Amino acid sequence: MSGHRKTILVTGGAGYVGSHTIVMLLTERYKVVVVDNLSNSVKGNGSLPESLERVQTITKCDIKFYESSLEDKDTLRTVFSENKIDAVIHFAALKAVGESCILPLTYYRNNVGGSVNLLEVMKEFHVKKIVFSSSATVYGDPQDLPIKEDHPTGQGCTNPYGRSKFFVEEILKDLWKSDEDWGIISLRYFNPVGAHHSGLIGEDPLDIPNNLMPYIAQVAVGKREYVSVYGSDYSTPDGTGVRDYIHIEDLASGHISALEKLLGKEPTPKGFHGWRAYNLGTGKGHSVLEVIAAFEKASKKSIKYTLTERRTGDVPASYADATRARDELGWTAKKTLFDMCADMWRWQSKNPSGFHRESS
Ligand code: NAD
Ligand code: WQD
Repeated sequence: MSGHRKTILVTGGAGYVGSHTIVMLLTERYKVVVVDNLSNSVKGNGSLPESLERVQTITKCDIKFYESSLEDKDTLRTVFSENKIDAVIHFAALKAVGESCILPLTYYRNNVGGSVNLLEVMKEFHVKKIVFSSSATVYGDPQDLPIKEDHPTGQGCTNPYGRSKFFVEEILKDLWKSDEDWGIISLRYFNPVGAHHSGLIGEDPLDIPNNLMPYIAQVAVGKREYVSVYGSDYSTPDGTGVRDYIHIEDLASGHISALEKLLGKEPTPKGFHGWRAYNLGTGKGHSVLEVIAAFEKASKKSIKYTLTERRTGDVPASYADATRARDELGWTAKKTLFDMCADMWRWQSKNPSGFHRESS
């Protein structure tokens, strides 16, 4: 990176995707300021959350941290006045699909309200560059596979969480239409899995995992007895659900590519103004049984599973057409399903209790 070091505000930076992205930001010599309310992260022994203490250990760089919610606009203003922010990566959100059906207002207040607060304060401080964490969930049940970015969004979102992502995308589009100075990139993640190759940071579900890979990892480490495979009668090659799993380090590097497009990179330093969405996926689909088999190979553990009913709201198959990110951001995912399982296993076996030091 040339010129002065740019400062990036990372909301929700103590979380799974945020912490891995910060490793890469610091490696690329960006300065990092984090706002997180620790609603889904673990406090450390010092002033930083545990995940970010470990990020500092990995990178040997400092992170400036504010423990606060995006609902608190005054603290957000303090963050922008105390730091000269060049761009924002906005991860902060609640993300449990099932919980969002029970607590829709909590999800809309946090995910939509929090985003609006953030954008208002960004506008006040004339910071108009943002990368937004969106999700393949905005596509609902896909009409065509692989899914391209121009696939309709919003129509098939089956839960408030998914709709909150769709609504924020629409808000961001309206914002850009009202002021074309904004540069807005929406990254639609497919299924992020795995952990940093050091085994020091990874995904740490604070409750029973909803997602497949963390559940498998807990079975492998002996915390849970077996995996329930949700549905074996889909019209997929082995009857189980197919998804586009992407290594968390590949996903993190997609954010660096998006940021470079927004901020501009020599020899075209102008930067991007507009609204644009990119799929972050590998373009390949893997079934639940393939993931279990890959995890067994990587961990050398036998994983018990049982075939059960389909889970409500699940789609049979979802995988990305990731060519737009390749062509316009110069980004592609590089790691294999085996890499994802091997790194997930390293993290899980070194940290059976995640970031909770006392029992790990
Ligand atoms: P995470 O829960 O690990 O991280 C989110 C972080 O945001 C947590 O540290 C939490 O404490 C914080 N947070 C939540 N609400 C906040 C608020 N109001 N103010 C400040 N901090 C707040 O989740 P993740 O997996 O890292 O996901 C990051 C983003 O990516 C989310 O927006 C999520 O919806 C999106 N996403 C995740 C996945 C996935 O499978 N992990 C897939 C698609 C999209
Ligand atoms: C993957 C496959 C399940 C658990 C979710 C959210 C989505 C996004 C990513 C944030 C499916 C099967 C799962 C288990 C199983 N998050 N499965 N047994 O549902 O594709 O996406 O996370 O934006 O919004 O919906 O991911 O990991 O839950 O499921 O058989 O115990 O594994 O049926 O086929 P999903 P997942």
